[in-house]
Amino acid sequence: MKALVLAAGKGTRLKPLTNTVPKHLLPVGNKPILFHVLNYIKEAGIKDIGVVVSPESGPYIEEAIGTGSEWGGQITFIAQAEPLGLAHAVKVAQGFLGDSPFLMLLGDNLVQEGVKDFLGEFHTSNSDASILLREVSDPRAFGVAELDSSGKVIHMAEKPKNPKSNLAIIGVYLFTAEIHKAIAQTKPSWRGELEITDAIQKLLEMGKEIRSHLLRGWWLDIGSNDGLIEANRVVLDAFLKRDIKGEADEQSRIVGRVEIGEATKIENSLVQGPVFIAANCRIKNSLVKPFTNIRAGTVICDSCLERSVILENCQILKIKHLANSVIGKNAILAGQGKGPGKIRLFIGDDCKVELE
Ligand code: TTP
Repeated sequence: MKALVLAAGKGTRLKPLTNTVPKHLLPVGNKPILFHVLNYIKEAGIKDIGVVVSPESGPYIEEAIGTGSEWGGQITFIAQAEPLGLAHAVKVAQGFLGDSPFLMLLGDNLVQEGVKDFLGEFHTSNSDASILLREVSDPRAFGVAELDSSGKVIHMAEKPKNPKSNLAIIGVYLFTAEIHKAIAQTKPSWRGELEITDAIQKLLEMGKEIRSHLLRGWWLDIGSNDGLIEANRVVLDAFLKRDIKGEADEQSRIVGRVEIGEATKIENSLVQGPVFIAANCRIKNSLVKPFTNIRAGTVICDSCLERSVILENCQILKIKHLANSVIGKNAILAGQGKGPGKIRLFIGDDCKVELE
């Protein structure tokens, strides 16, 4: 069994952040999105891992992952020159995959329960594919599966106008090498992409059996700013433990599950968990409210922050109330400590915002 992680793509919805960092390396809780995905693979015991990257994301992702020793396996990087669809990404990885069955994961999707049980069920079945499904209120925005009473997939459609079920396909799949034959017979969709949903439908038409597994816990698709904020809320809430390595002075209060990295100083401030503050930050005369993720080297002075993601080396000075925001690396936000009440910002690296 091999694993394939798709981490190419354009990341358009997360621009301007993704002009300078691939979305897969943006933080959720205390680590990049992609590291959570690689942890699922490690937990499932798969050691031969391919990561599909784009020409833009490749160098950053390769540097971040290194040899992959942290995940106890061998990592192979596979270049996809253009984001021509999920099935196209499998096609470019065919040399790496060979005849092996494989687990395929989108590099920007997280699932509460990981993939171990899903994989176990596949091993005991004779299916050529298995897909992870979740009930959604509006299936028209997703790939949708129709099942028979035993849970076997009988039909698949990508973003159907009249969905036959409310079961959306989540970005986790299991395939045998039969999928390569199905992809070879699949044509690009109206949006010009080789869709994996169409390739799975082709497998059905080839008479192959496809199983499904219904996800009960949360699923996070981190494609947008709101997706990134929500993923941080859910993951900080679910996993963060109290761990204070930095220093807080006597005038400060650290309440609940708060992680504070080494050499970070908290002065005359209130931090209400769940909050993650990385190493080498300085928080002074400030209020940091729940579900905030502050990366290394950031300075927060005379400000209030809530439910936001602040990347490395930012300066946030005299901002009355920053909420539901994503702030790129090295950004400077400077206010006067007065109105407007709550502000919401999505800004890229190196930006400067001054509030009069
Ligand atoms: P998407 O979120 O559908 O696409 P994207 O990452 O380009 O983002 P946007 O829509 O904002 O431009 O992709 C889902 C995942 O699959 C993501 O991790 C990137 C990956 N992917 C590939 O590796 N190759 C591809 O050809 C495509 C379309 C996506």
